[in-house]
Amino acid sequence: MAVSHHLKDFPRLSQKLLFTFSLAVVFASFYFILSGCCDTGLNDTARHLKQSSQVLRWTELNSKNTSFGNKDLIDVRATPTVSITGEPSVHGVTPNKEWTATRRLPQAIIIGVKKGGTRALLEFLRLHPDIRALGSEPHFFDRNYARGLNWYRSLMPRALEGQVVLEKTPRYFVTSESPARVWSMSPGVKLIVVVRDPVTRAVSDYTQILSKTPRVPGFEALAFRNRTEGEEPRRGETEEARGEIGEVDSHWSPIWIGLYAQHLERWLAWFPRAQIHLVSGEKLISDPAGEVGKVQDFLGLQRIITDKHFYFNKTKGFPCLKKPEGSSQPHCLGRTKGRPHVQIHPQALHSLKLFYRPHNQRFYQMAGQDFGWY
Ligand code: A3P
Repeated sequence: MAVSHHLKDFPRLSQKLLFTFSLAVVFASFYFILSGCCDTGLNDTARHLKQSSQVLRWTELNSKNTSFGNKDLIDVRATPTVSITGEPSVHGVTPNKEWTATRRLPQAIIIGVKKGGTRALLEFLRLHPDIRALGSEPHFFDRNYARGLNWYRSLMPRALEGQVVLEKTPRYFVTSESPARVWSMSPGVKLIVVVRDPVTRAVSDYTQILSKTPRVPGFEALAFRNRTEGEEPRRGETEEARGEIGEVDSHWSPIWIGLYAQHLERWLAWFPRAQIHLVSGEKLISDPAGEVGKVQDFLGLQRIITDKHFYFNKTKGFPCLKKPEGSSQPHCLGRTKGRPHVQIHPQALHSLKLFYRPHNQRFYQMAGQDFGWY
């Protein structure tokens, strides 16, 4: 009798048991979510946001991306896991945040100029927690445009809403199609150009060419038209004594790139001047914090990268980043950045200065800024 009574109650009991078990599972899941898996992520993110200039709401945060991993790291820097400030670095965030990150088209692009100091600027800006920068040069608007915007977007590092996605391809500045293409992607994109004395820039450019093609003719032979390699001054006769070394070949790439006014003009046909920020390549070396400070202002970010992030490395002869915590190595740019230049005949340098002078003056006028070159 008792057995049959228990058998009668069995379905009700099992129902109760199932209900209790389900409740336990639900509570356990909540507990896991609130105290376990997301705790570290939220705390890290909260710390990051406190530091950042653009504080996000928690609701936004939960639906956005916090991945700081970047596969596109370049040769010239190690990947610190902790930044100089002691905060988790943009490169060192745990993978469990990746699910909240999204890939977006860049809101800012370093468009030039080659050998201006573009790598230094990008590497310095990467210290900012609100900047997510692509390490490699995608060459989208000049070489890979046919691949489409989705391809371009897929290259970008994942970023949170509020973070500025940045890439650099110095060739954009001198590619005639780039301004219209960049504008059609995003008319509001912020553009950055690092400019440097065009004469020094040309020598830097040539030094790079020579390092890749050692048999290339001499600088003077390429930079001036009425002169060919092998046409050396006669014994005892200097080029100065001969009076002239030829007409500047403004079509030779290292010379042509330095015609900044001509290139800037094309960009100003599409973008207002206020949307283009010019960085002095010289000041980026003499006062990196000051120059990077102005870029942070331009990007609408808090000035987080300051003097305390830099030191002058006497051996390298350039500012370097102070050693990140957790690393015994300070961080300088690689060997191809800041290398000794080839010796150029003083007369050739003088002629180039004279050649660039009117172009520089026009550039200063367009820029509303005097960069102090000859
Ligand atoms: P040089 O190697 O001729 O000195 P880019 O990155 O656009 O190619 O520019 C390279 C130039 O960046 C270098 O040219 C160097 O002068 C300049 N530069 C600026 N800041 C630097 C830094 N902190 N370390 C190394 N090079 C730097």
